[in-house]
Amino acid sequence: MEQYAIRGGNPLVGEVEIGGAKNAALAILAAAIMTDETVLIENLPDVRDTNVMMQAMESIGVVINRLDRHTVKINAAQIHDLVIEDDYIKKIRASYYLLGALLGKYSKAEVALPGGCNIGLRPIDQHIKGFRALGANVRIEHGLIITEAVRLKGSHIYMDVVTVGATMNVMMAAVMAEGKTVIENAAKEPHVVDLANFLNSMGANIKGAGTDVIRIKGVSKLHGTEYGIIPDQIEAGTFMFAAAVTKGDVTVKNVIPKHLESISAKLLEIGCEIEESDDAVRVVAAKPLGHTHVKTLPYPGFPTDMQPQITVALGLSTGTSIVTESIFENRFKYVDELTCMGANIKVEGNTAIIDGVPRYTGANITAPDLRAGAALVIAALAADGISTVDDIKYIERGYEDFHIKLQGLGAQIELVTTERDLQKFKLKVG
Ligand code: UD1
Repeated sequence: MEQYAIRGGNPLVGEVEIGGAKNAALAILAAAIMTDETVLIENLPDVRDTNVMMQAMESIGVVINRLDRHTVKINAAQIHDLVIEDDYIKKIRASYYLLGALLGKYSKAEVALPGGCNIGLRPIDQHIKGFRALGANVRIEHGLIITEAVRLKGSHIYMDVVTVGATMNVMMAAVMAEGKTVIENAAKEPHVVDLANFLNSMGANIKGAGTDVIRIKGVSKLHGTEYGIIPDQIEAGTFMFAAAVTKGDVTVKNVIPKHLESISAKLLEIGCEIEESDDAVRVVAAKPLGHTHVKTLPYPGFPTDMQPQITVALGLSTGTSIVTESIFENRFKYVDELTCMGANIKVEGNTAIIDGVPRYTGANITAPDLRAGAALVIAALAADGISTVDDIKYIERGYEDFHIKLQGLGAQIELVTTERDLQKFKLKVG
């Protein structure tokens, strides 16, 4: 049993250092194998998903040296296998980036179908469409996606939906293809830009990342580089909402405020004060939270990965709010857990209608996935009394030292592994 024990009621106050972006890191790690020269990556978050990705890379012969907790040196000169099917890689969605990276470098890859958070159907048809447009054969056999090409050739690809994963995957496959590739209706997320910057620092020729048309001129070879990953927009946003929900005063440090604009805007709308500086954002929640409506959208819209956190906050607001989830169709499963804590939320299809309640009460709850798990922790930090949160393995997939960072802000939260630990925690917090 590994769970968080939480006593709610303390406003979170202080400063918290935000780590590197998990979703950028996963693609950048995969892209690092596209050269035989050594690549140094800094500001790498030490979370389960990035560690699983590195294990998968090591299983095919990539040499990875961890210089410190957040810095790795990667050398992929000795890759001996283009098949990745170990059970552990199926657990992370981003395993598909190894397809684009291996296909781009060796014109062949076989990777187990991806897993990841259970938040609804997660097709990969746009990835496959992109690889095929570049001239690759793609088939699915025995749970593996198998893709190969004689020689990848640049192409014009229109994405039918805005997808972060397919945009980044096709970008990797195209950087060493012959000729020009244009990706239209591309995703504009900060991690798309980060991957493009990383590949360009390796000698790629990618223009337009961050807009909806990305143009790539194929180069024959990529070289080594040293690169620092951007700060994690979602980790920062999660702490910003933790401040709002606990009526606190929190400064998230080492962030890019521009990436947090949709999150800051919603916090302002519900009555928080926001102070921005070059690389920090302070959230002060001095007034009762007001209601609002929000719809998740691709960047620069409000991120789907922040949807559970804003729902938790609106559950404690004065009035009625509507949250519409437009990216994934099954992302309200955590609402049952929140209802156990006293929330008044009705879900109809992809919409949650939230009638704010004055308080949540502590309960024994379970994290259904990564972001909803973090959101439930925040709810517990605001609740009266003690809560336990089970299945924190999901939270550990994407948050480094989550409970330790929260403790630094004055939260009463501990990771407990036995019933005895839990009883000790209860005695300690009274
Ligand atoms: C990534 C993030 C995830 C985030 C999501 C949206 C990683 C590892 N995960 O997931 O945290 O919630 O972006 O910001 O970076 N789609 C298709 N066909 C495809 C691919 C996607 O129809 O081939 C659809 C999806 O079902 C979804 C939408 O496109 O409705 C967006 O998905 P996408 O941006 O690709 O999400 P992921 O890359 O899976």
